[in-house]
Amino acid sequence: RSIVFVTSEVAPWSKTGGLGDVCSSLPLALAARGHRVMVVSPRYKAYPEVIDTGVRKRVGTAEVGFFHQNIKGVDFVFVDHPSYIGRTGGPYADEYGPYQDNQFRFSLLAQAGLEAPLLVDCEGKGVYGQDIVFVANDWHTSLLPVYLAANFRPFGVYQKARSLLAIHNLCHQGVFPPSTFDELNLKGWWYGAVEFQYPPHQRKGSYAEEGRSVNFMKAGITTCDRVITVSPGYAEEIQTYLGGWGMEGMLTSRSPVLNGITNGIDTEVWDPQTDKNLPVNFGTEDFVEGKRACKMKLQEELGLPVNGDIPLLAFIGRLDPQKGADILLEAAPQLMQQHDVQLVCLGSGNKDLEDGMRWLESSFRSRSRAWVGFNEPFSHKLTAAADILIMPSRFEPCGLNQLYAMRYGTVPVAHKTGGLKDTVIDFDPWVKKGTGWTYTSCDAGGLLYALGHAITTYKHHRSDFVDLQKRGMSRDASWDSAAQQYEQLFEWALIDPPYCK
Ligand code: ADP
Ligand code: GLC
Repeated sequence: RSIVFVTSEVAPWSKTGGLGDVCSSLPLALAARGHRVMVVSPRYKAYPEVIDTGVRKRVGTAEVGFFHQNIKGVDFVFVDHPSYIGRTGGPYADEYGPYQDNQFRFSLLAQAGLEAPLLVDCEGKGVYGQDIVFVANDWHTSLLPVYLAANFRPFGVYQKARSLLAIHNLCHQGVFPPSTFDELNLKGWWYGAVEFQYPPHQRKGSYAEEGRSVNFMKAGITTCDRVITVSPGYAEEIQTYLGGWGMEGMLTSRSPVLNGITNGIDTEVWDPQTDKNLPVNFGTEDFVEGKRACKMKLQEELGLPVNGDIPLLAFIGRLDPQKGADILLEAAPQLMQQHDVQLVCLGSGNKDLEDGMRWLESSFRSRSRAWVGFNEPFSHKLTAAADILIMPSRFEPCGLNQLYAMRYGTVPVAHKTGGLKDTVIDFDPWVKKGTGWTYTSCDAGGLLYALGHAITTYKHHRSDFVDLQKRGMSRDASWDSAAQQYEQLFEWALIDPPYCK
């Protein structure tokens, strides 16, 4: 099959979270299984080794270029436009907030993603052509199915193509004022497809409140051929009042074509046996000594008391209400008072939460460190050094950190939600199974309760803890089974007639 992912992030070139990781590791897994796979993403910087194909194309009022690099059989295609390159902040925002032309930048990306397979000759192997399964990802590219139906199919192009929308996070929907529609390069009669009126419980006090907004995510959900989410648990949750962010009715109506597939991880990038970021590498046989050495080295680097026996707790993630860092901060005083532990946090995002992290470090200077910023090598080192990874997420579509943690012998303690519920199996002391601890009450009390179990097991039932670590390390986190499930969905999408003609 020819499969084309269109995404606003692709690691290692661009990444603010798991979307970037998934949009490179899943395509690589599909290519390894024999598919022809392209990933289309913006050229945010002049990436070395990525070559100008010379192909240029007018899209609406803009002109884009295409750059290319093939890695392990995947054609990474970067869309060149002045609105992507040279921004001072990240892909979506800078210190002053979201870029004011995001609706234009990402509608352009969705359209360029549809052009790339027709135009870009990848290393002399010819263009991909029209027989394509497109995978759009999150709100940024969720107008892709609309463009497919509005600007390609009526002209006889992509008759056999199908589009899937992968929802990595429904909370972010791409909501803009109705006037935005004029910038979208769509004929007026498509307005209904992109407008969304929030149900009363979700109105947030903006133009959306008056009942009129352009909503990219809604447009994708209602026009794509199939909807995928990144875990079965999240697929259920988004069809409910609590997890649907106002879109539960619409998603329920699409439930026959809505599936959840749990993400895998790149087991080469995240391999404790070969990871170059670690001071000491380890595998399932020697992880007890290996992790101890990693922990002591990290303690030394961070200026914490060097002690291989003290439980090291870690938090890694975007500082966003989703991730529950505030719940951890609330729990921290009691945690530090009740238990002899060290706590190291890594995160960036919300300014108040960043200040909260600094407060944590200064309040518990002898046992806690907080690294405010985005630091990939440090995330690897910390994952390896920690004994317990805390994931107090309020909701979590899949979550990759708990998967990385388990592979590195670090036991997750997580709120029982979405993908965390699907991937962390609760420890059962009687039958000695499970890979971590989850808790249901999403607050400091719930977190402290579960952490209490984890810390006690670490300190007083060491062999149980080591078995837990071993089970986590031995679980199959690769993309193989998920890639097979994606293949099945591609086949089903191709059997059905196009949903939006
Ligand atoms: P999300 O996509 O919601 O942010 P995931 O758990 O799916 O959550 O993926 C987060 C990814 O981003 C992981 O690879 C994690 O290691 C990484 N990450 C998050 N914050 C940081 C940070 N401050 N420094 C380095 N890596 C980070
Ligand atoms: C999103 C979700 C996260 C998921 C990631 C990759 O950012 O918040 O839970 O793991 O996408 O699918």
